[in-house]
Formats: sequence, C-alpha cells, structure tokens
Amino acid sequence: MLEICLLEAFKDCQNIVTLEGYYQNDKDYFLVLELFDFSLDNWIFHAKQPQFDEVEDEDEELYEWCQQRYLITRDVVNGLSVMHGRGANGVLHRDLKPPNILLLGSTKGVQKAVLTDFGFARTAWNNRNRRMSAQIGTVRYMAPEIIKGEVYGKASDMWYVWG
Ligand SMILES: Nc1ncnc2c1ncn2[C@@H]1O[C@H](COP(=O)(O)OP(=O)(O)O)[C@@H](O)[C@H]1O
Ligand SMILES: [Mg+2]
Repeated sequence: MLEICLLEAFKDCQNIVTLEGYYQNDKDYFLVLELFDFSLDNWIFHAKQPQFDEVEDEDEELYEWCQQRYLITRDVVNGLSVMHGRGANGVLHRDLKPPNILLLGSTKGVQKAVLTDFGFARTAWNNRNRRMSAQIGTVRYMAPEIIKGEVYGKASDMWYVWG
C-alpha cells in the first residue's frame, strides 16, 4: 500500500514511473504502470558498446553512445533527487539497480529513463532508526554500510546507482 501512496505522490515527476491505477483482492494488490520498452540491464548487456581501441576522431557511434549514457544518468539522478527531496526528510528507494530503471525507446535510441519498483521504499528519518538498518535490497548492489548493518540513508541509494 505504501508503494501506491508513494507512486501517487510522485506523479508529477517525469523520471519516476507513472501509476495509472491499481487493483486489490483479499491477498494482493496489482499495480497498473505506464508501459516501458525495456530496463537498464537490457541496455547494458544488449546495446552495442563501442570498441575503445578503434575510436577515431568524431566517431559518430561513440558520440551517440555517450549521449545515451548522459541521458540515462541525467534522468536517473533527476528521479532520485525528486524522491530524496520529498516529504520532511525525503524518500529512500533502497533497491536501485539496472532492472529497476525502465527505459523508453530502443537500445540504439533511449528517449527516457524512470525509476520503478518502490516495494522497499520508505520515508527517511532524521534520527538513527532501527527499521532503516535492515539489510534490504540486492546484495550485489548493496552499499558497504548496509552490509555492515548500519543505517540506510540517501548516500546508500547513491551507491546503488554508481556502485
Ligand atoms: N512498466 C513497465 N514497463 C515495462 N517493463 C516493466 C514495467 N514494470 C516492470 N517491468 C519489467 O519487469 C521487471 C520486474 O518488475 P519490478 O517492478 O521491478 O518487480 P520486482 O519486484 O519483481 O522486481 C523489471 O525489471 C522490468 O524488466
Ligand atoms: Mg525489481
């Protein structure tokens, strides 16, 4: 339910997935989201990466590849900064990773990136809080402080993006 409330609150942000509606039965709830073409892990593993030892001046392929990286990074950082700025102390995603970043377009021409999967997201607290020291997330992307069992903060979300 918190996931629905958060997505409702982020509807004005173009870099957070849009919640179109939801459905609930006795046990579960189902989200209806804006449809995207693929996720960042697909781009990382399937987009053609330029060969740096063959790079020449004004290489158009390399230029386009850099532009895509710039666009994805800009959109992810914008989504993250809106999220971290919301409410009294911001909202933490806690499971940022390539499969939770959706892309519009094709592997050759990404048009837009959004953050998705707010299942672990929580509002941040100013004081140290036990609930925020749970080892939540995906181990491969986990910030060092989470592995050590310390408190999760905005910097931990940043680690997930750059780590
Ligand atoms: N709105 C969407 N448009 C396109 N693909 C999506 C969308 N939402 C999820 N997916 C795909 O489904 C995968 C799992 O969805 P996600 O919301 O992250 O659920 P989970 O909690 O299972 O990780 C994503 O990595 C993505 O590939
Ligand atoms: Mg996911």
